[in-house]
Amino acid sequence: MEIQPDTSQPEVKQIGDHDSVDSLNQFHGFWLTPINLQATQELLEHFKPISNDVILASFPKTGTTWLKSLLYAIVNRSSIDQLTRNHPHVLVPQLELQVYGPHAISPPPFPSPDTSSSNRIFSTHLPYQIIGETIDSSDCRVVYVARNPKDTLVSIWHFVNTLEMFKTFPWPLEDFVDNFCKGHIAFGPYYDHVLGYQKQSVERPKKFFFITYEELKSDPKTHVKKLAEFLGCPFDNEEQVEEVVRSCSIETLRNHDVNKSGDIFYYFPYNSYFRKGQVGDHKNYLTKDMIDRIDTITNEKFQGSIFKH
Ligand code: A3P
Repeated sequence: MEIQPDTSQPEVKQIGDHDSVDSLNQFHGFWLTPINLQATQELLEHFKPISNDVILASFPKTGTTWLKSLLYAIVNRSSIDQLTRNHPHVLVPQLELQVYGPHAISPPPFPSPDTSSSNRIFSTHLPYQIIGETIDSSDCRVVYVARNPKDTLVSIWHFVNTLEMFKTFPWPLEDFVDNFCKGHIAFGPYYDHVLGYQKQSVERPKKFFFITYEELKSDPKTHVKKLAEFLGCPFDNEEQVEEVVRSCSIETLRNHDVNKSGDIFYYFPYNSYFRKGQVGDHKNYLTKDMIDRIDTITNEKFQGSIFKH
């Protein structure tokens, strides 16, 4: 994708054709699709979180679906069986897609943002730099999941290539790496996204819970317990923890009929949200040069604070 010259609106730079699903507009330093941009503007105007809300924030393809199911299971322990009948994206709606904007679902099958019912969980891919003021307007809690940049990149690349428009001419990996490194990717730059929330979690650990996909993979029980404590609903016993971890594993979720159905969430079939779910899958795709390039940027941006290698 080529960057086009500045449009007539000085504050909005655009990549790609405006009508195309892969076109992007720059907003407060981040790249958003036209649909997400419209929804974000609506959200910033109308969304008023309440103090017992939980907001799951993430960069795309970093484990959002997993965290949605875990948060749902932790907070709604008595109705954990809902996960057998509903895709996690239906149980935990994305603010700038299902709640606001042209794709908003009406009437919503989830607690409305206009009611103050308890146990509301929303997700967002918006960076703290955009949604921060809204989040900080209440005592709601925020869980952020981050994933190492190379697996994130490979996961997004696979995901976008499942789109009909890329079936005939898949997006070349070389181009995709270039876009990722330059930050020209939906909700990018990735590095600023991660750092925005990480900084908050260091400064305000009672409000922001920062976890990596890799930590969760390596010891799900320990981290799920910490997550439940952070949310103020600790487990009574080990069996409960095990049930939540098992119910939310990729093996369990991908085998539910609902998640095998051909239903679509935002252009993508339900089953495409459960691909491999492994750590280190990038080694099967990225060349040494690509890895070196990404590692150099990672070291520069994260300064060894996260994802050191
Ligand atoms: P891969 O493409 O590497 O397999 P997101 O939910 O943010 O879109 O992220 C999708 C990534 O998380 C995919 O990674 C997907 O396979 C993985 N994933 C989905 N559900 C998972 C689960 N329950 N446990 C672990 N990984 C999961």
